[in-house]
Order: sequence, then structure tokens, then C-alpha cells
Amino acid sequence: MKYDLVDRRCVVTGANSGIGKELARNLAYFGATVVLGCRDRDRGGRALEELANDSGNDRLSLVTVDMASRASIRNFVRQVTAGGAPVHVLVNNAAIMPSERRQGPDGIESSWATNVLGPFALSNLLLPTMRRSGDARIVHVASTLARDLDLEDVQFTRRRFRAVTAYAQSKQALRMLAWGLATRVPADRVSVHACHPGAVATSLFREQQGWFARALRLGRAFLKSPEVGALTPTFVAADPAVQSPSGRWWINLQPATCKFASDEEQITRLWRLCAEMALCDVS
Ligand SMILES: NC(=O)c1ccc[n+]([C@@H]2O[C@H](COP(=O)([O-])OP(=O)(O)OC[C@H]3O[C@@H](n4cnc5c(N)ncnc54)[C@H](OP(=O)(O)O)[C@@H]3O)[C@@H](O)[C@H]2O)c1
Repeated sequence: MKYDLVDRRCVVTGANSGIGKELARNLAYFGATVVLGCRDRDRGGRALEELANDSGNDRLSLVTVDMASRASIRNFVRQVTAGGAPVHVLVNNAAIMPSERRQGPDGIESSWATNVLGPFALSNLLLPTMRRSGDARIVHVASTLARDLDLEDVQFTRRRFRAVTAYAQSKQALRMLAWGLATRVPADRVSVHACHPGAVATSLFREQQGWFARALRLGRAFLKSPEVGALTPTFVAADPAVQSPSGRWWINLQPATCKFASDEEQITRLWRLCAEMALCDVS
């Protein structure tokens, strides 16, 4: 895999570890200007230093962002777009799988806030810049572990909180938001995609216990490395052939059918709910 991305400015969230770091490393190798969006300045700084040294690319920068916080996302967007800088690629990669129900800084259940509302707000707030930049692309790093979306109870106030259910709900929603966004923006300006990186050995599952942790331990030998896990997200972010048609779901570098793409009524309901919760002015 090799691309010339010297004219592309890319933003990757959660770029200090796992799949996001390897994806950012690939984009840096391809010559892109890369903004690493990380929540912790020290962890982000270490990743920045490693990727800059490795790639020899001096156009990498770190901007801190807490994807669970509306104020932090707005501040991030202000910094990323300062001086009219373009954004050609946004990869919504950051995510969590908390073991128990917690609330983020805005009082919203943390996996819904981080994995769904954060990418929704960031995509919509960066959209005007990306439309202007042209030939731009938004990539949602989602998952085949996607189910149990309950639009009446996205924050688990009525259901018992289960880590895997909350995560799977968030990844179903993220895929549906990609399809919602793809129908709202002209594909020649901004093309929107979602992808599955595979089952990858990262720190995503670090809080898990019980059957899921046991299954992960048993299956560890079959998990991909982060480098291999980053291949499909890198392809979707970088390959010129992905630009059109917009709104595709990618697994193993190939387009696949997404069972959530056709339910327009649910997508519209989800979109409205996210716009309300993220306090984003989007129609
Ligand atoms: N691993 C898999 O098998 C797998 C399978 C399917 C999909 N995915 C998806 O792949 C993506 C990357 O996950 P990963 O497996 O590479 O896990 P990871 O190593 O835990 O990476 C997640 C990244 O997100 C960041 N992050 C978490 N909460 C954040 C917040 N509030 N604000 C900003 N950044 C935040 C983390 O930062 P910290 O270091 O500060 O925590 C970390 O850099 C996720 O979207 C995940 O759902 C993973």
C-alpha cells in the first residue's frame, strides 16, 4: 500500500495508541499533514514524537481533544481550522468500551458521548471546512460488533448497563450516522465511509472482565496486530478509488453490505436525537 498524500491534511482522533496510531503513522509515511487528536497531552506527545521520528515527516502536530466533551470538540475545531487551514480527511477513530456506566463531562453516558456524539459533532463542525477543501473524506472506524440500538434508552437509564451492549449500540449508531451524513453532503465535496478494522489486539478491551475477557484471552492468538488492523482504515482514508460512491461500508479492503443502511426512518430519528444531544445546529 503506497499513496502520495503530500497535498492532504488529515485529522485522526485517538491517534496515540492502537489502530489510530498505526493509521496516523501510515498517513505520515505517505507525506500527509497529520493532526493527531488525542485526549492526553503526554500520551499524545509521545506518539507525535515516535511518528515524526519514524516517518521523517515534520508536518505532524498534536491538538488535544476530549471526544466526550462538547466544549473540547468546539475548541479542537477552532484550533484545527485556524487561519483557514483545509481538512481533507477526518478519521473518527477514538472510542472506549467502559466496564460500567459512567458519565462524561457533559453528564452523558460515556460510551454514547465518546463513540457517537463526539464523532457526530466533530464531523458536522468540520463539514464547512471540508466542503471548502474539496475531494474530502470522513471515515468512521466502526465495527461488525454492532447491534442493540435502543433510541428510547441510548444512555442505559432503563436497561441494565452491559459493556458489550453499550459498545455494540454505539457502533451500530456510528455506522447509521455515516449513512445519514453521506446522504446529506454532495459526494464530490465530502465522501463518507465506515469501516471495520477486524478483531485487533489493542487496549480497547482493557477494562473488560468475565466471559468477554476470557474469550479475548483464549482468542488472543487470532487477533490482528494494530499494524494489520490499520490497513482497511488507511485504505479507506487514502485510496482515490474510495471517493465515489460515498456511503460505503468496508471490511478487509472491500466494500460490503451494511444491514443498517436501508432503515432511513431510524437513521433520521438517530440523527435528530444526536443533533439534540450534541447541541449541534444541523438539519
Ligand atoms: N480493537 C478491535 O478489535 C476493534 C474492532 C473493531 C473496531 N475497533 C475500533 O477501532 C477504533 C480504535 O480502537 P483501538 O482498538 O485502537 O483501541 P485503543 O488502542 O484503546 O484506542 C482508542 C483510542 O481512542 C482514544 N480515546 C478514548 N476516549 C477518548 C476521548 N474521550 N477523547 C479522545 N480520545 C479518546 C484513546 O486514548 P487514550 O489512550 O487516552 O485512552 C485511544 O487513543 C475504535 O473506534 C474501535 O471501536 C476496534
